[in-house]
Amino acid sequence: MRAAVLGGGPGGLNFAISLKLRDASHDVVVIERNRPNDTFGWGVVLSDETLGNLNTNDPVSSKAIRDSFVYWDDIAVHYRGAVMRSGGHGFSGIGRKRLLNILQERALSLGVKIQFETEAAPPDSYKDFDIVVGADGVNSRVRTAYADAFKPDIDVRACKYIWLGTHQKFDDAFTFIFEETEHGWIWVHAYQFDADTATFIVECSEATWRRFGFDRMGIDETIALCEKIFARNLGGHKLMSNARHLRGSAWLNFNRVLCERWSHKNIVLLGDAAATAHFSVGSGSKLAMESAIALANYLDSEPDMASAFRRYEDERRLEVLRLQNAARNSTEWFEDVERYFDLDPVQFNYSLLTRSQRISHENLRQRDPQWLSGAEKWFEQKATGYTPNAARPPMFVPFRVRGIELANRVCVSPMAQYRAENGTPNEWHFVHYAERAKGGAGLVFTEMTCISPEGRISPGCTGLYSPEHERAWKRIVDFVHSETSAKIAIQLGHSGAKGSTQLGWEESDAPLKAGNWAVMAPSAVPWSRENQMPREMSRADMDKIRDEFVRSTEMAARIGFDWLELHYAHGYLMSSFITPLTNRRSDEYGGSLENRMRFPLEVFRAVRKAWPDDKPISVRISAHDWVGPDGIRPQDAVEIARILTEAGVDLIDVSAGQTSTRARPVYGRMFQTPFSDRIRNEAGVATLAVGNIYEPDHVNSILMAGRADLVCLARPHLTDPYWTLHAAAELRYDGVNWPKPYWPGRDQLYRLKSRSEAMTGKV
Ligand SMILES: Cc1cc2nc3c(=O)[nH]c(=O)nc-3n(C[C@H](O)[C@H](O)[C@H](O)COP(=O)(O)OP(=O)(O)OC[C@H]3O[C@@H](n4cnc5c(N)ncnc54)[C@H](O)[C@@H]3O)c2cc1C
Ligand SMILES: Cc1cc2nc3c(=O)[nH]c(=O)nc-3n(C[C@H](O)[C@H](O)[C@H](O)COP(=O)(O)O)c2cc1C
Repeated sequence: MRAAVLGGGPGGLNFAISLKLRDASHDVVVIERNRPNDTFGWGVVLSDETLGNLNTNDPVSSKAIRDSFVYWDDIAVHYRGAVMRSGGHGFSGIGRKRLLNILQERALSLGVKIQFETEAAPPDSYKDFDIVVGADGVNSRVRTAYADAFKPDIDVRACKYIWLGTHQKFDDAFTFIFEETEHGWIWVHAYQFDADTATFIVECSEATWRRFGFDRMGIDETIALCEKIFARNLGGHKLMSNARHLRGSAWLNFNRVLCERWSHKNIVLLGDAAATAHFSVGSGSKLAMESAIALANYLDSEPDMASAFRRYEDERRLEVLRLQNAARNSTEWFEDVERYFDLDPVQFNYSLLTRSQRISHENLRQRDPQWLSGAEKWFEQKATGYTPNAARPPMFVPFRVRGIELANRVCVSPMAQYRAENGTPNEWHFVHYAERAKGGAGLVFTEMTCISPEGRISPGCTGLYSPEHERAWKRIVDFVHSETSAKIAIQLGHSGAKGSTQLGWEESDAPLKAGNWAVMAPSAVPWSRENQMPREMSRADMDKIRDEFVRSTEMAARIGFDWLELHYAHGYLMSSFITPLTNRRSDEYGGSLENRMRFPLEVFRAVRKAWPDDKPISVRISAHDWVGPDGIRPQDAVEIARILTEAGVDLIDVSAGQTSTRARPVYGRMFQTPFSDRIRNEAGVATLAVGNIYEPDHVNSILMAGRADLVCLARPHLTDPYWTLHAAAELRYDGVNWPKPYWPGRDQLYRLKSRSEAMTGKV
């Protein structure tokens, strides 16, 4: 086979080596515009796993790479005058030039021809070659030449960065330096890559970059200013650029590249040309080199080129997407970092370490147990005011708001049971809520409980509008208080245009087959074409609804509920006032956000007056309509949260969606937590996070990083009412309250856990 490899970076060279290793008779030519010793950039980081993969493919070059490595274990974070250091992270770095020289030498020794200082011609000029590999980096011309076939999607990210080097030593830790200046925050990612040189990447927001005037500076001025800003960290050493060949300033925006296809006829993309991963997760070279190996493998093992390309794409795309996901989280963390500058250094550090969501709480414990236990103690000290002797997982740290203290931070999220008749909770509800309260959660929410018969979603919904309801709920609340350490919250709501619909397990949100009742909403906008047209609410309707909320609140107060939540999410009545998708009013209750919030605020204020002062009120909102700019987006949710908090709401329960049939939600693990994070840290309010959070590790990471104050789990509590007690056993934490009659079961569970730990050698 004759192969033309356009671009001699880590991807192109490793492909050439890998192809030759599989069949020495292949004729492989690498075309590289630079000289062998030219290179932009400085050092790259490679993990042990990548090295293992390189070693299996080619022990010779991998040994040379390993011999040139600089290793370090710690991450140091310089922030607000403190230096925080955690260990166990295990990095290795190598100079990019050294890496390329090793690969060039190895390629030449295997008979690869490298044409340096040669500009690649358009891909279709290589007619004598069987395969043309586009390994020409992030600005790939091969990709551009066949953009119609590859369908690239290039996302230019917000921050500005410049890749510099220095002889100052950063050999004991991968170092992040955050500097506050008169023009805003600016930060550095620094790491050693050979005995006397370190990479020094400077990054900041575009606004800060302009305020500094970097947009008007040449490279020398830029370097002089960066040296001044980071003088304390440079110990008199200079910063150096090796990007002087680039035109204009060497500052860049990171381009996230995705391509719908990676191959076209006999042309195939590799490395940064096909997909990039942000430098803050340090995986671009890894992706390029591992993809190179996979491509060579399939060209060798598959019967023809088309199936080799197919297998290459199938295998690598998954890995690339996984890394791009983590890289996106990490990129966004740096883009939004100004939001976190109010965090205490310990929490800031934790948030930074877990930013990609690839490293969890328990991963951190494995890496540096001492550091994590210090962070856990800090968390508890901040919450309770006293320094504990022993650390406990953040989820088991009590939470206090007004006169209510929750024993821990796990909540049973509100979940409609569709089991009531005429709104009255029955034996099902008694057993259901009693079991969840026995299961250890700090707070158990009731399902959305409706303020009137017409306010119910379905005929099976619970209500709180009659003495019978009051009696039935009181029986449940009394049990929770007398037999468990959980607190219990009532969620009050009105269904609006989504009312008079079928039970959850029937055709959800579809109208009843018979016996529909009339529905109302802020505007005459039906939930869907199949649903009833709601009546547009008059001021008299609003008075009635407000008074019904107050009536239910008074009942909840008499019953003794500990906490009240108003359901302003998911497209029900209050939510449909807030989102412009369903509020089309032209009076003072429609139009601007201020107007759309007017009635929900009026209800809240009336409810607050009727609710005991020493008990909290949370409001659940939909922080994203998932329909683009027509609907609520997370930045609007921050405003909504601010308005509610100023009115006296204690916590925002941050849910999302279910406000429009047009919504296109993006699901995933903890997918709504970023909205809680944003609201908590931008609006400065306490939040509850919810949505696909199912492991103790998720809960601890969210709390410790300051992404929420409490965590709600819904579906996990349907399969396991004792989720919290089981989580405690999993984490070997023995400070939770098991019901006394269950102590023998608890003891056996902990014994079995210890035994299996001893057997697997995990201590
Ligand atoms: C600031 C920064 C820090 C980074 N840190 C890391 C890190 O720590 N770890 C890591 O793994 N990755 C890191 N990366 C990413 C990494 O550098 C790239 O992902 C990696 O180099 C991709 O390899 P490649 O072979 O696909 O492309 P490149 O390395 O870009 O190689 C492409 C080659 O093609 C040549 N070329 C381009 N066009 C032509 C043409 N028309 N004719 C001839 N030759 C051409 C170029 O000269 C170049 O040599 C970092 C990137 C940046 C920007
Ligand atoms: C069966 C069921 C009923 C629900 N009922 C309500 C409800 O009454 N009020 C509410 O705010 N959310 C309700 N939700 C949404 C949950 O509280 C939660 O936000 C959602 O399920 C995501 O959390 P999870 O991934 O832990 O399940 C319900 C969810 C389920 C699965």
